Amino acid sequence: GRKPIVTIDGPSGGGKSTVSRLLAAKLQFTYLDTGAMYRAVAYQCREQGIDPDDNARVTNLLSMLRITLLPPDPGEDDVRVLINDREVGTSLRTPEMGMLASRVSAMPLVRASLTGMQQEMGAAGYIVAEGRDTGTVVFPQAAWKFFLDASPEVRAHRRAAQLRSKGMEVDEQALLQQIVQRDKEDSERSIAPLMAAADAHIIDSTGLDVAEVVNLMLRIIQENP
Ligand code: C5P
Repeated sequence: GRKPIVTIDGPSGGGKSTVSRLLAAKLQFTYLDTGAMYRAVAYQCREQGIDPDDNARVTNLLSMLRITLLPPDPGEDDVRVLINDREVGTSLRTPEMGMLASRVSAMPLVRASLTGMQQEMGAAGYIVAEGRDTGTVVFPQAAWKFFLDASPEVRAHRRAAQLRSKGMEVDEQALLQQIVQRDKEDSERSIAPLMAAADAHIIDSTGLDVAEVVNLMLRIIQENP
């Protein structure tokens, strides 16, 4: 049957993290940022000098990996991430870490491991899960599924503003290219590609602000109890 879970999938920069956090607060659900977990694996690979294609070393890394997600600080979008009890800060959120996360996330081994962790985290329901495959693979029983899209230009612009607000310098044109490249890789990989679930509500946020998207989702949830 359907589980009290909301899934929000879509390409990078579509506004998923802000929308997910606000929607979770409105519903009093827990926000599960699955992308942060792929970034955590990427981070560990870089820390330990592991080539993401090195199956043996990645297997070993995964067997020792404990990821803890804590709610964002007040006024912040990003969940706090603890890797083996050590908190990692904004270095997880750089575009470079996003690219590396996209690479590690194409490995079946990594996906199997993180998908299992996510399903455990969501076993009791009452979560808003955000990512690329949360409606298709991780929580196919979710009661409410959304696919949040926007034009690449709008997404690059939003992502640039977000990174600047964290004090990072950004070249918006380069960012646009990275976003297009990462979406292509995420969409074309053979396992768990980025795509809308058949039963997902597709929302194009190009002309909408965050509050409008959240309200639209709340309305759809209320209309489909
Ligand atoms: O959402 P975020 O930009 O933090 O995700 C980083 C990368 O992690 C994505 O580009 C994607 O390759 C991967 N990812 C994934 N499946 C998810 C969430 C993220 O493959 N459910």
